Amino acid sequence: ATHKLLLLPGDGIGVEVMAEVKRLVAFLDKSGLAAFEIEEDLVGGSAYDAHGVAITDAAMDRAQAADAVIFGAVGGPKWADVPYAARPEAGLLRLRKELGLFANLRPAVCYPALADASSLKRELVEGLDIMIVRELTGGVYFGEPKEIVTLENGQKRAVDTQVYSTFEIERIARVAFELAKARRNKVTSSEKHNVMKSGVLWKQVVTALHKAEYPAVALEHMLADNCGMQLVRTPKQFDVIVCDNLFGDMLSDVAAMLTGSLGMLPSASLGAPDAKTGKRKAMYEPVHGSAPDIAGKGLANPIATLASVGMALRYSFGLSEAADRLDGAIASVLGQGLRTKDIAGPGTNAVSTTEMGTAIVEAMARG
Ligand code: NAI
Ligand code: MG
Repeated sequence: ATHKLLLLPGDGIGVEVMAEVKRLVAFLDKSGLAAFEIEEDLVGGSAYDAHGVAITDAAMDRAQAADAVIFGAVGGPKWADVPYAARPEAGLLRLRKELGLFANLRPAVCYPALADASSLKRELVEGLDIMIVRELTGGVYFGEPKEIVTLENGQKRAVDTQVYSTFEIERIARVAFELAKARRNKVTSSEKHNVMKSGVLWKQVVTALHKAEYPAVALEHMLADNCGMQLVRTPKQFDVIVCDNLFGDMLSDVAAMLTGSLGMLPSASLGAPDAKTGKRKAMYEPVHGSAPDIAGKGLANPIATLASVGMALRYSFGLSEAADRLDGAIASVLGQGLRTKDIAGPGTNAVSTTEMGTAIVEAMARG
């Protein structure tokens, strides 16, 4: 089957890392590992410069029609003063919203060659491989009412509202259980049922789904504050962690620091399966931004974005063999000591974005 990919490089280093994606995709195509039909469009500041909006309706149509979107990064000082509705981030938010991307997958993988870059001791993180599944479209970031009101006594009161319905909890938990089945078969569900009604419902719904559909997966419940502590104490106890939008935001950033550089972190955002085809809308992107401080200098680490393509191979296209080969190639070039500047220790020679991307593709070609 031919997979329809939409590339949205965006701004700054987004463009540089996407050039390495093109190199990888061309290799996959040529070697027969996968067949792609590729389109490319503008998003963020570059779309604003060309069209006056952060993403055009035409680009949105292409995103809707694609099997997967690969997104680089958006933003930069050049667009600091553009109208709010056209700011670069608005392109990303529109994609997430209109594609219905409710599940955010953030793996935290610690390559042995980089274990000393972790904020924890080598033995605690070497070989770490956890997946945080964060609910992305609900909870306290979106719940109503959301306001700051002035009281009669002149005091102000800020209100945010945490809201979750059964279907929202069930669909994110299902993503977590499905992932666990293909990994180490364990899900940790994290909430605060001791102080939050949303936590009570969360725990009930996850427990019921587990009993009904996933009894063979090991399920544990862990209060979110304890989960944060356990992540920095013994992170290798985890396989898949599932949590709401707020806790997921925090826990995934904590987990990120266990692995080293921002330039290494991929992510996936998935929508609901189509009723007819079972296919999910999906967007894959590095966790990092457009890095204006290093843009245009060939210093960007392309691994976060290449690993995001790896997630697309695995989760959108079912090409786990190609995904494993890419992961192996990344581990192998790191093992050989190849480093971009962000992961090179003091006094170590760093390679460019292109050299890193080329080396990874060459390592894949060697098998
Ligand atoms: P950033 O992630 O762009 O950069 C933070 C630091 O990490 C910088 O020193 C940068 O040089 C370094 N860095 C990031 N990615 C790297 C890579 N692949 N290789 C080597 N070094 C890397 O975050 P920052 O500086 O807060 O934001 C810069 C711009 O990016 C802003 O306009 C912000 O709004 C936007 N942004 C966009 C995101 C997106 O498109 N998803 C996410 C985060 C920020
Ligand atoms: Mg965050």
